[in-house]
Amino acid sequence: MTDPLLQVENLGKRFGGFVALDGINLDVANGERLGLIGPNGSGKSTLVNCLCGTLHNETGAVRFNGTPVNGLLAHQRTHLGMARSFQLPRPFHTLTVAENLRVPLLYTVNARPDTSLSESEIEDRCHEFLRLVSLEHKARKMPRDLTQVEMRKLELARAMAADPKLLIADESMAGLSQSEVKDIVALLIRLNERGITIILIEHIMSAVMSFSQRLVVLVSGKKIADGNPDDVIRDPEVERAYLG
Ligand SMILES: Nc1ncnc2c1ncn2[C@@H]1O[C@H](COP(=O)(O)OP(=O)(O)O)[C@@H](O)[C@H]1O
Ligand SMILES: [Mg+2]
Repeated sequence: MTDPLLQVENLGKRFGGFVALDGINLDVANGERLGLIGPNGSGKSTLVNCLCGTLHNETGAVRFNGTPVNGLLAHQRTHLGMARSFQLPRPFHTLTVAENLRVPLLYTVNARPDTSLSESEIEDRCHEFLRLVSLEHKARKMPRDLTQVEMRKLELARAMAADPKLLIADESMAGLSQSEVKDIVALLIRLNERGITIILIEHIMSAVMSFSQRLVVLVSGKKIADGNPDDVIRDPEVERAYLG
């Protein structure tokens, strides 16, 4: 068996006296589509922040692609191939849609001394990412001209431009219509088919169930379930956590 892409061991995070994450163990295999659910405040975004280096966990270890990442800064983890999209999209508002992809793309290319791209190659790459998320026709628009679902797609394309091995999508679908949700799920599955491991954090259960090959449940900073999605949602402890 090959090593997992992501290995989380006994991860703990406190905010003052409040325990936000309590000894999380989690392995994610290369190429997997993992759903992560839990009530509001259960620690999902805190876990993402600890994985990506935005927050520092006090206990535990994280290995990514065989490399211990404890102590690495967020941008160093990005260069190793970890990417995330934010719950609230964070585009560069003064740049066009295409330029919004140029920034992470150049950042990634420049960090790899063995690669260099010509101006036209960079242009091509940007358009490839826009095609991937079906935003090609919006290349010259400003972020403010995008609809909500287009903004979510731009956010995912920006994460993709960093050429990740792992993409963590933190509530990319909140506030979208049912057909828009299906659209984003299909997009995430397309990205997964390109070889990217994906962790989807989501409240919309139809999306979670159609996307996930495995489902993990957090409640009050603890992992209470991890397994086959159909089994996990029928787990009495999971039902209790959701029904209160
Ligand atoms: N920077 C912070 N400072 C203090 N408390 C925080 C901070 N970030 C999150 N929390 C608290 O940690 C808990 C988990 O939050 P979060 O990870 O955002 O939950 P989720 O994403 O599952 O809704 C919540 O009680 C939240 O109020
Ligand atoms: Mg959250």
